Amino acid sequence: MKKNILIITGSPRDNGNSTELSKYFAKGAQNKGHQVTIFNAAKNKINPCVNCDNCWKKGKACSFDNDHFNELSEYIESSDVVVFSTPLYWFTFSAQIKSVIDKLYSYCVPSCNKSIKNKESILLCSAGDPNNAVFNSLLLTFKDINNYLGWTVKDTLLVGGVFNVGDINTNTALNKAESLGYCL
Ligand SMILES: Cc1cc2nc3c(=O)[nH]c(=O)nc-3n(C[C@H](O)[C@H](O)[C@H](O)COP(=O)(O)O)c2cc1C
Repeated sequence: MKKNILIITGSPRDNGNSTELSKYFAKGAQNKGHQVTIFNAAKNKINPCVNCDNCWKKGKACSFDNDHFNELSEYIESSDVVVFSTPLYWFTFSAQIKSVIDKLYSYCVPSCNKSIKNKESILLCSAGDPNNAVFNSLLLTFKDINNYLGWTVKDTLLVGGVFNVGDINTNTALNKAESLGYCL
């Protein structure tokens, strides 16, 4: 079955390691015939949630007219699978991805009459440290977020030992990312 796949990337670096994972993932998914949308949270303007509790008061998820979460929210609503692609920053998501996650608050408030439950999600992450334990906190947080949203974590691909741009280029993780996309 053809799926709508949304990939949200959160690296501020062009051609960063996590972004490369996303590109290969997208390639695999497209080769399988899925519809893939890539949204770059680092290049778009997603401000941190300020808890104004004005979600939906102007008909859109976020009441700030210039916040690109209002475009992203429509992609989220229509997606079957949401892929979060992030560099590991201080054992967790980059601020760019965290701002997106914070904005999902708009789907948890009483004024929301839309449901985004029952989606699948995937986490792609790159880190400088080669020790897999560096992903522990991120993984726990990701699982809690998904439980809360009513989403199912379909898979995770966590790649350590890649620090500089280009480090991932010779890594077998890129093939794994492509297979992950193809196997959806
Ligand atoms: C602000 C910042 C925090 C970081 N924190 C960690 C960390 O906690 N653990 C780690 O292994 N690498 C850390 N790194 C390194 C990045 O995770 C690593 O370079 C990653 O591959 C970057 O992904 P990107 O190329 O997609 O931007 C950090 C880098 C930055 C800039």
